[in-house]
Amino acid sequence: MSIEVEKIDVRFGGVTALQDVGLTLQRGEVLAVIGPNGSGKSTLFNAITGFVDIASGSVAVDGKDMAGIPAASRIASGISRTFQTPRINPAATVEDSVLCGFHPHARISFWEGLLRPPAMSRTEAELRRRRTRVLEQLDLLGFAEQQMGELPMGIVRMVDIARAMAAEPNYLLLDEPAAGLSKTEQNVLIQQVRQLAKQGVGVLLVEHNFGLIRRLADRVIVLDRGKVLLRGTADEVSKRPEFVTAYLGTSVQ
Ligand SMILES: Nc1ncnc2c1ncn2[C@@H]1O[C@H](COP(=O)(O)OP(=O)(O)OP(=O)(O)O)[C@@H](O)[C@H]1O
Ligand SMILES: [Mg+2]
Repeated sequence: MSIEVEKIDVRFGGVTALQDVGLTLQRGEVLAVIGPNGSGKSTLFNAITGFVDIASGSVAVDGKDMAGIPAASRIASGISRTFQTPRINPAATVEDSVLCGFHPHARISFWEGLLRPPAMSRTEAELRRRRTRVLEQLDLLGFAEQQMGELPMGIVRMVDIARAMAAEPNYLLLDEPAAGLSKTEQNVLIQQVRQLAKQGVGVLLVEHNFGLIRRLADRVIVLDRGKVLLRGTADEVSKRPEFVTAYLGTSVQ
């Protein structure tokens, strides 16, 4: 069971954001994607989740080709993601924001709701229980009733991760989840990602903090100007001279 990205190209007008990029993300592993600004990391996430079109190549989830499947429907294939800039409703409370993540599971038809109100309330009670569990796991229970707009970025990011986890995905894509997080929040994040991987979730992680990658990632892919520059463990890639140049933010010539 895996996400298979094969030789994808993504272009924005004249700009080639990704060229010939391939990867396999198995369930239960943590794969990190690193590279300088503009190297295509978020575009890779967007290509996998259907937010941008691929010009060539393919993305398959558990053997199913994602071509033509819109972003909203890819959640049904078990993919959940966060965004580099969390997409939040500032007026919504933390608990309501997390509840949004449940919707793929929570679908009850109008007639079902009308004819079987007890089933509906059973589902709602179960969703509330699960929401409480996710908030607890991420140490967010104390913020449950606060509005998103009042919270510091670290907490907003954690809520966004909680929302993504609430969908109980098989694959979780986190785009710079540790940006703006305190050391304590980072430790909670690390613990949760490890726990998810242990439970069989495949985690794709874009992250600038290499210390965190060392602690979390089974494998690392280094992107540079839209191409895969290196693959290996965190230790292996960090010893390569190309890595130093790419990781410090200057493109390799
Ligand atoms: N929607 C878009 N329209 C046009 N160009 C885009 C779009 N999204 C990304 N790009 C371009 O594609 C390239 C890769 O961008 P991307 O955001 O994927 O990089 P990144 O590795 O995530 O960078 P960062 O570390 O800054 O988040 C850049 O040249 C960027 O300007
Ligand atoms: Mg990015």
